[in-house]
Amino acid sequence: MAMLEKIELKEVKNIIIVASGKGGVGKSTVSVNLSIALARHGLKVALVDADIYGPSVPKMFGIEDIRPEVSANGDKEMYFPVEKFGVKIMSVGFFVNKNQGLIWRGPLAANAITQFIENTQWGDIDYMIIDFPPGTGDIQLTTVQKLNVNGAIIVTTPQEVAVNDARKAASMFSNPGINVPIIGIIENMSWFTPKIHPEEKYFIFGSGGGEKLAIENNTTLLGKIPLVAEIGEAAEKGKSVFLQSELIAIQEFEKIAESIINIY
Ligand SMILES: Nc1ncnc2c1ncn2[C@@H]1O[C@H](COP(=O)(O)OP(=O)(O)O)[C@@H](O)[C@H]1O
Ligand SMILES: [Mg+2]
Repeated sequence: MAMLEKIELKEVKNIIIVASGKGGVGKSTVSVNLSIALARHGLKVALVDADIYGPSVPKMFGIEDIRPEVSANGDKEMYFPVEKFGVKIMSVGFFVNKNQGLIWRGPLAANAITQFIENTQWGDIDYMIIDFPPGTGDIQLTTVQKLNVNGAIIVTTPQEVAVNDARKAASMFSNPGINVPIIGIIENMSWFTPKIHPEEKYFIFGSGGGEKLAIENNTTLLGKIPLVAEIGEAAEKGKSVFLQSELIAIQEFEKIAESIINIY
């Protein structure tokens, strides 16, 4: 495997990738809520939405109509992240429109993510969370090779199909040429709890997928997030679910944030 030149982000202390084998498992939900949980600890947090196939972070923060400020720096354009809930956010979604959409899929796409991170004025950052495109293509490989990544979190649902795809994503990070530690697994949609019966758990997607993946990769299961209407509603409305501190899901995100703080 060819060695790519590393990009130094001097102001950024830790870079954590949130990855998954397939879309729709809750990668963005985890990225958004983990970022907010870390920011609530008074830490300086950057969230990069690098999912060129379906950038959903702007919607989840209710900032999809906002565009980052741009300033010219010589012949280079610098972007300023959008700040909400204490998190500095940049999304490929801010740049994709009808005319530009193809830029991110063309031959330049492999370098586009690192370039877009590099061209943003982040300021001092304790944790940069990157919501990665699902899967294990060239774009993902190039990005992990070019950045000094501390570790990756793999998100899966309990289902066999999701776990199978997550396994491939995990093996990309442990590839000898890549060597990015897997910080842990997060199982999302572990069970369903109806709003009106908060004590009940329905294991609609089966169970054990997250544990299995963690054991196979010799890593920990960082948390299990239930499927609850409040998370979906917050995402739709661009609100922070953290106002509803009684939710088990929120307590899980807080626990995961504390694990990250203890590791890095
Ligand atoms: N634990 C959860 N409870 C309720 N809805 C969820 C949960 N996790 C994800 N969702 C919803 O499922 C959809 C897919 O989640 P998302 O985070 O966008 O997945 P991905 O980024 O992996 O494609 C979104 O509409 C999101 O709001
Ligand atoms: Mg997503």
